[in-house]
Amino acid sequence: MRVLVIGQGAREHALAFKLAGDSGVSAVLCAPGNGGTAAFAEAVDVSPTDTPGIVAAAKAHGIDLVVVGPEAPLVAGLVDALEAAGISAFGPSQAAARLEGSKIFSKELMAKYGVPTAGFRVFDDPDAAEAYVREANRPLVVKADGLAAGKGVVVADDAEEAVRGIGRIMRDRAFGDAGARLLIEERLVGPEVSYHVVCDGETSVALAAAQDHKRAFDGDRGPNTGGMGAYSPPPMVTPEIEQRILREVVEPTLRGMREEGAPFRGVLFVGLMIVDGEPQVLEYNVRFGDPECEALMARWQGDILPLLLGSARGDLSAASPQWEAPASMCVVLASGGYPGTYESGKAIEGLAEAGAMEGVTVFHAGTKREGDAYVTAGGRVLAVTATGADVEEAARRAYAAADAIRFEDKQCRRDIGWQARG
Ligand code: AMP
Ligand code: GLY
Repeated sequence: MRVLVIGQGAREHALAFKLAGDSGVSAVLCAPGNGGTAAFAEAVDVSPTDTPGIVAAAKAHGIDLVVVGPEAPLVAGLVDALEAAGISAFGPSQAAARLEGSKIFSKELMAKYGVPTAGFRVFDDPDAAEAYVREANRPLVVKADGLAAGKGVVVADDAEEAVRGIGRIMRDRAFGDAGARLLIEERLVGPEVSYHVVCDGETSVALAAAQDHKRAFDGDRGPNTGGMGAYSPPPMVTPEIEQRILREVVEPTLRGMREEGAPFRGVLFVGLMIVDGEPQVLEYNVRFGDPECEALMARWQGDILPLLLGSARGDLSAASPQWEAPASMCVVLASGGYPGTYESGKAIEGLAEAGAMEGVTVFHAGTKREGDAYVTAGGRVLAVTATGADVEEAARRAYAAADAIRFEDKQCRRDIGWQARG
């Protein structure tokens, strides 16, 4: 089977790497991929959001399965276009991708099907939204409805901060049409966790819980990033909480999508907060988290194709979870200055040494291959991932490997997994 992976981050490197080791896969291609995938997967020079270009490339390369990494092509309808051309694709339809593409759609679904989540109001008029936050005068969260690359959420301490958020989203249209409508939510407090399930429209296979670290600096301080590291499993997801997530969140969400006429296929990534021991949904994503995917793929030791293909074809009956490593950790090495401005083109050293360490796999994000060497080519550069008997051991291995890799102005958090480490 020939598989085409869409995207260019460490998430896509991890998926392509697992697929390349799979007994049922004869070739892996990446559109466009990165420096890491270029070492083993043919690069196809098409942008992930060029839907007709991807369909044409999949046909030209005799692709049997397309695995879509990022959300933008899913929300734009890539899976529908591939299926119309007779090509199997892992990911939701455009209608089902609204779970991520419209925060208002997803909150209304949660309310209708009884999924626990923060109370909310929907606004299409900035004057009314501002009047509401001034009147409420308590901590609230303001969210642009549409996709805003993770930047359309303002967690406001007071009414003035909320008013500034409304102004940026709705009046300045900092995120374009994504800010035509907005949500104002009650602000929750508690640890955040990520839960992934792979779905075929009817049934689902639960993957393990993970925890991401979105702030740039140690102690969860500094600006929000795409994610500076992740680990699995997080201790706050006890077996009891996991059962509640499956029963109170996953099951009604998937039933709701079926009843709304948009059965969900692909991977549903639920972002949750554990509030006083109760799981509450913050958001849905319709793709793997990055760096959660790297941590999950490291723990998964078996073939991944039955899961992805079963989901794409609407029949997961042959797929089962195959966890072997009890724990994993992924530490992101970023360019100095990220998520603000940073320089690229820095020589990367120590990759082979790090990759040879026990339990370690180094996934590439923003790298470029130059001959036999690699240079930095993005904000998040590498996702250094390790398995272990527990989170502590995975952390020791991941940080030993992270320290063996050198490039100018390397930036990383030292405290990934702090809630699970002694
Ligand atoms: P979202 O993209 O909806 O997950 O929001 C991005 C981030 O904002 C989350 O990871 C949380 O840290 C924070 N956040 C979102 N909704 C809430 C909420 N209702 N209460 C507190 N923090 C929130
Ligand atoms: N790691 C969070 C995300 O992928 O959205």
